[in-house]
Amino acid sequence: MSRTVYVNGEFLPEDQAKVSVFDRGFLFADAVYEVTSVLDGKLIDFDGHERRLARSLGELDMAAPEGDLLAIHRELVARNEITEGLVYLQVTRGVADRDFAYPKDTPSTLVMFTQAKGLIDSPAAQTGIKVIAIDDLRWGRRDIKTVQLLYPSMGKMMAKAAGVDDAWMVEDGLVTEGTSNNAYIVKGGKIITRQLGNDILAGITRAAILKMAQEAQMVVEERAFSIAEAQAADEAFFTSASAFVMPVVEVDGATVGNGKPGPVTRRLREIYIDESRNVAI
Ligand code: PDD
Repeated sequence: MSRTVYVNGEFLPEDQAKVSVFDRGFLFADAVYEVTSVLDGKLIDFDGHERRLARSLGELDMAAPEGDLLAIHRELVARNEITEGLVYLQVTRGVADRDFAYPKDTPSTLVMFTQAKGLIDSPAAQTGIKVIAIDDLRWGRRDIKTVQLLYPSMGKMMAKAAGVDDAWMVEDGLVTEGTSNNAYIVKGGKIITRQLGNDILAGITRAAILKMAQEAQMVVEERAFSIAEAQAADEAFFTSASAFVMPVVEVDGATVGNGKPGPVTRRLREIYIDESRNVAI
């Protein structure tokens, strides 16, 4: 079955879905995106993703896309028969002749597609994954979810070349975040993750996890940590819409804890999946 993709008001077979070569998303990475997970055919944390999209658009002075985004998400999930997977949404500043300055009053481009993917029964969640440390060479507004993803792609390739799964990025001696996720350590029962700011993305999964952790009487400390601190931690993990809560068992060559997913990480993953399922729409 060919995938049905949404482009500017139309649901089309993927081979007929087209965007102009003059689209600023293509020429300037002048675009923002969201990835929302789907469980049991329902959307997880849709409101959070919609709010963050509005914020990204506002920070870039980009027009909001036309249409009811929730209805389009649901329609795409239904047409593609997705029970578990992801919905990708991208908004660009639209089509204009190439010029660095923003064009005036150009309608934005809205593209959405689904990816069927097993999210819950992930083998990596059973074993944990390994990360290397790399310098964070991205631009300074990582709080805006833009499609400028070349450095994160390079980071994944560096991880691959080192025989591991992902990379944690480091700036001024402290971990910012993973290539496409937020990073955490657990020490003495305390969950530690970098505070929000321009240097990381405010993960929607991060917000949910921190709230659930506090409701479960776990202690959360929002502050930056170093690679050495992560290596000496009891547990490490990362969060994202596509991975939920993913245990990290090796950081830059050093085993974390006993080299297995730890109890806090496993509990948070369980709580997150259970509670998200309950409130999915
Ligand atoms: N990435 N940090 C970065 C740099 C990210 O790209 C992401 C998400 C996150 C986690 O955010 P959230 O919990 O809202 O998914 C943190 C998505 C999944 C992606 O690029 O595919």
